[in-house]
This record gives sequence, structure tokens and C-alpha cells, in this order.
Amino acid sequence: MTALPQDNLSALYPAHLAEIEKRSADALAACGRDSLVVAAGLPHGWFLDDQNYPFKTNPHFLHWLPLADAPGSWIVCTPGTRPKLVFLQPRDYWHVAPAAPAGYWTEHFDIVTIREPEQARVHLPKDPSRCAIIGEANATAGDFAPDNPAAALDLLQYRRALKTPYEITMMRVASRIGVHGHRAAEKAFRGGLSEFDIHCKYLEATRLAESQLPYGNIIALDAHAAVLHYMHHDRNPPVHAHSFLIDAGGQFHGYASDITRTCASPDAGEFQALIDAVESAQQGFCAKVRAGQSYPDLHRHAHLVLMQAMRHQGFVTCSPEAAVAEGISSTFFPHGLGHLIGLQVHDVAGFARDEAGNTIPKPEGHPYLRLTRTLEPGMVVTIEPGLYFIDMLLEELKAKPAAKNVAWGKVNAFRKYGGIRIEDDVVCTEGDPVNLTREAFAATASPQH
Ligand code: GLY
Ligand code: MN
Ligand code: MN
Repeated sequence: MTALPQDNLSALYPAHLAEIEKRSADALAACGRDSLVVAAGLPHGWFLDDQNYPFKTNPHFLHWLPLADAPGSWIVCTPGTRPKLVFLQPRDYWHVAPAAPAGYWTEHFDIVTIREPEQARVHLPKDPSRCAIIGEANATAGDFAPDNPAAALDLLQYRRALKTPYEITMMRVASRIGVHGHRAAEKAFRGGLSEFDIHCKYLEATRLAESQLPYGNIIALDAHAAVLHYMHHDRNPPVHAHSFLIDAGGQFHGYASDITRTCASPDAGEFQALIDAVESAQQGFCAKVRAGQSYPDLHRHAHLVLMQAMRHQGFVTCSPEAAVAEGISSTFFPHGLGHLIGLQVHDVAGFARDEAGNTIPKPEGHPYLRLTRTLEPGMVVTIEPGLYFIDMLLEELKAKPAAKNVAWGKVNAFRKYGGIRIEDDVVCTEGDPVNLTREAFAATASPQH
């Protein structure tokens, strides 16, 4: 049987932990404290109710451990000593308590189990003022309240952009999980199902509950694809759907994948030709995920290439340079080329210039770009160009002089398709990029996986 990516986690974990300990020691030096204390967090309750929102673990906690369901737990890192896990396993016959720690990581920690959140305090360092306490405000144990010192957090978040091989493996698994869902969703589209039913097929294939998705599924038939974050899930199928855009990810121990595909029905050949052009452009951008590449430059390059494609397909009559300068490209491609991804789907520190909290501004005219850094080995980014027919933006363009450079008959004929986005997650390495999404589609092509 073929090895699965996760088979390798135990071998990769010690080096990952050593890296996290090194970063923590540097963060403590930056803020002048002795111990880093990370709260997993506690659930948030509904207003005037006795129920909670789904629990979302502090990503800084998940960076240490694959424990996505351990509310009330803490990690204590004091450089020079073994890290400690204060693990909350409540005595509770109402709910399923988190399982006792098990697996490849446990031997690296001193673990104490507590039964009530308040019991954490006696296992935390004596003097909170000597600790950098990372967590949400509600995750307080006695006098131990998260203070999130900026000097520590800026350093940790800046470096979180650089994934260890252990983290890349986590993201490989998240990619495979997402791809299982994408395959089931495309089949459901071809079978004529509604957006809601396609969504259900996606959940079934990924074995993820909705609250475990890295972000709300975007599942759009026809003109709905023109709403960039369409999360409505229409219960009624159209009589005949012409196009399908799905932006949906997988999740593994808190690590995300973020995948978009667009398909046309067999009778929508004209739309398929535009999908093919975006796909070919997207593959060109993925090939440029290399150390030293400025991401804003790549984003600007994408505007030009997409306008070349639109000219070639007869939507735009001017040069790509003119289409960019006159704002035509921003009408059809009104979002950023991509973002960092990891423990958060839009991962932190996309604008960080350094680990001291300075930032790199977005290029003028590109307000939705989420990544202004230069690529380095270990970064994982999405590459997600798109072309859309968004009524609101088309109306604005019609009112500008640049409108004369647009073939409106052709544009209007494509409104019914909504739009196209193709999104892969790509690792920047010392050499060639590694496309986690394409790799996952290739690995899951045969039924035995
Ligand atoms: N799924 C949201 C995004 O692609 O950024
Ligand atoms: Mn994305
Ligand atoms: Mn996406």
C-alpha cells in the first residue's frame, strides 16, 4: 500500500518542535520575559444562552501540538527546560471529554492533566509578569491573563510564514482531504444537484463537519459565481446549470488547504475556453513561486497576463498595458492573487516587513492584496487568479472612458456564467515550487487512496 503523507509525522516532529522552541526563545528575548505561556482558549457562548459557538483553538497553541480540541489547556515553554502541557480533561458526563494525550509528540512534553480550568493556575509559572502569555482575553486562569506582548507576537507571526517540513506534511494531508471533497462536488454538479446538496456531498467526502472547515464553502452555480464570497447554498437547483465555481478547503490538525476550481457544462464551450485560458495563466503564476520573487510584482504581472487572455478571447480591444492602466483589469480581476496559508487560511503576517512589527504597504490601486512580502523557502502561498462578470463593477466601468475598449456584447453574454477562479496552494522551496493542490489531485486519482 502507498505511504500516506501523515505516516511521516513522527519522524518530522522533533525538528519542528526544536524550531518552535528556538522561535519562542527568540520571542522571549525580544520582549524580555522568561517563559512563553500559550492558552488553547475557551469556547465563546451565545448571547443570553447556555450554548457555545464551535471552539476554535488559538493557532499559536496548534503550532506546538496537533491538539485541535483541547479547550482550557496550556503550553509552558521556558528555554532550557522541557515544554509542559497542562491538559484539561474535565470530569463531565454531559459531553465527550478530550481523549488523553497519545501519539508521537507526547514523549517530548511534561504533561499534567487537570479536571477544571481553574486548576491550570498552580501548574503555570509563579510570576505572570515574567511571562509572555499568548491567547484570547477569556482564556484567563486566576491572575494569569493573556497579554500578547507585541514584541513576541510580531516575531512569532513573522516566522510562522516559514513552514517546517512537519507543517508542509500537515498541509499535504489537508490538501488531500479538500481534493476528496472537490471530486465529489464536481460529480454532484454534473449530476444536476443544488448548491446545498453539492455542499453536503463535499462534507460527506471530506468527513469534516461544517465547523471544521477552514472557511465557509463557496459553492456557486451560474451567475452566483460573480459573488466573490458567495456562501448562500441555494436549496433549489437551476433547471440547467452552465457553470460551477467551488472554493472549499480541507483541514488537518488546524492546518488549512484553500482550493478553487471552476467547471463548465458540456454545452458551455465558450466559457470552457476562458476557463482554459485562466488555468494556463494560473499555472504560469504557480511556476513563479520562487525564492526572491516579490509577491506584489507577481500580482501585477497577473493583471497583465489576464488582460492578454481577455484580449485574445475578444472581451477587450486595447493592449493589456492600457487595460491595466485604465482600470479594466480591476473590473474583471478585483481581488488579490493570493495570500499566505497555514494554521489560518489567510495566514498572519502577510504584510510584515520584519519581525519587529514593521509592514510593507499594499501597492496603490490594489486594496485587496493580502501579501506584500518577498517569497522565501518555506512559505506556502495560494495562487488564485480569477475573471468575473460582476454587475456592480461592470456598471461602474461602463461609465468610464475606458468602456470603449470593452466588447460589451461578449461581456454581457458571459454574465450568466458568473466568473472563474482557479486556486492552488504552492510551497516556495530552494528550488522548484511544490504545488500541494496538483499533487493531491494526482495522488487521489485512483480509487484506492
Ligand atoms: N477561500 C478564500 C480565499 O480564497 O481566499
Ligand atoms: Mn485563497
Ligand atoms: Mn479560496
